[in-house]
Amino acid sequence: MRNALLSETNLTAVEEQPVKLDKTIWSVAGGKGGTGKSVIAANLGIGMAIMGYDVILIDGDFGVPDLHNYLLINRPKYTLDDFILKKTKSLSDVIIDTPLDNLRFISGAVNLIGIANMPHARKKKIIRHINKLEADIIIVDLGAGISYNTIDFFNISSSGIVVSNPEPNANQDAYFFLKNALYRKMIAYLKTQESFKYALSEFIQRNAKETFNFPEFEKFLKNSSSLLHQKFENFLKNFSPHLIMNKIRTLNQDREGPYFISLVKSFLNIDMHYLGGIKFDTRIILSSEKICPFIFQFSGAKITRKLFSILSILNQHEQPNHSVNTFKEFKELIKQQKKVWI
Ligand SMILES: Nc1ncnc2c1ncn2[C@@H]1O[C@H](COP(=O)(O)OP(=O)(O)OP(=O)(O)O)[C@@H](O)[C@H]1O
Ligand SMILES: [Mg+2]
Repeated sequence: MRNALLSETNLTAVEEQPVKLDKTIWSVAGGKGGTGKSVIAANLGIGMAIMGYDVILIDGDFGVPDLHNYLLINRPKYTLDDFILKKTKSLSDVIIDTPLDNLRFISGAVNLIGIANMPHARKKKIIRHINKLEADIIIVDLGAGISYNTIDFFNISSSGIVVSNPEPNANQDAYFFLKNALYRKMIAYLKTQESFKYALSEFIQRNAKETFNFPEFEKFLKNSSSLLHQKFENFLKNFSPHLIMNKIRTLNQDREGPYFISLVKSFLNIDMHYLGGIKFDTRIILSSEKICPFIFQFSGAKITRKLFSILSILNQHEQPNHSVNTFKEFKELIKQQKKVWI
């Protein structure tokens, strides 16, 4: 009975879990559609490239890839299709240039029906090849939803970025996304720990597995073994995604980001880092319509200043060699590169 339950709770999926990569990867996800993941991923990539980093942006939206539209690339010459259909040997063969020297791009699979439900072996192969890519930083723009594909590409990142909006639906979806990502990561971790497997199956026998309750599981571990409890606490400490609250319209909504983080802390006991709130700004829509990243079209605007502040926080965590310290310097660099885009 115990073993049956264990395999039911995705321990079969454990076998399939891809490993975390040793590269600097920022995966951008969010649960709900339209929260601003792609706009943000594109502008973060451009921002990093402007600062001198060698960046590869990957369109990891396996349902409806559209990141190329934010990058002035009308019809990508190569896409993930070519790699998946084995027309190319390596993922690096489908990298295409963008108008910026330091920024390269891998376009999503546009023609493959059913790609959103890709078999596990294919996903593992893509992940293996991402690990071989040569770049200072790889940014993966993910689609909406909580499919294993999306979650697994989120979990390979050194620190994921969740983009939500100040509305209940968006925050609820972001929360479910995080809970599922944490659960899947936990299952992969427990696979490596014999003693945990036993504790998990015991816990699942007593509780409904469909609504796995993290605080309850922690409590259960605390009462069973202080060593396991300590180990689990350490595991949780290593899962600390970032949050961006996008499309903020009112002063009150400024509080939504920190509030969401406090909720996540109480329900999942994980510490998210707040990267900040981005105001709803029609200039972002305008720049999407014109296919001109807002960072170039509105280089002096508050949205670009906010993007710089977000990059500075991310860089503190992951790219300590970051050498652009002020927004003034950043703006100057944008000015120098602007002509290649506009
Ligand atoms: N801060 C903002 N203010 C105003 N409009 C915004 C803002 N951020 C994004 N948008 C707009 O919201 C729309 C959706 O943005 P985007 O395509 O980046 O979302 P997404 O989360 O990637 O969507 P999907 O889930 O479909 O991949 C676009 O029209 C974009 O211009
Ligand atoms: Mg998108």
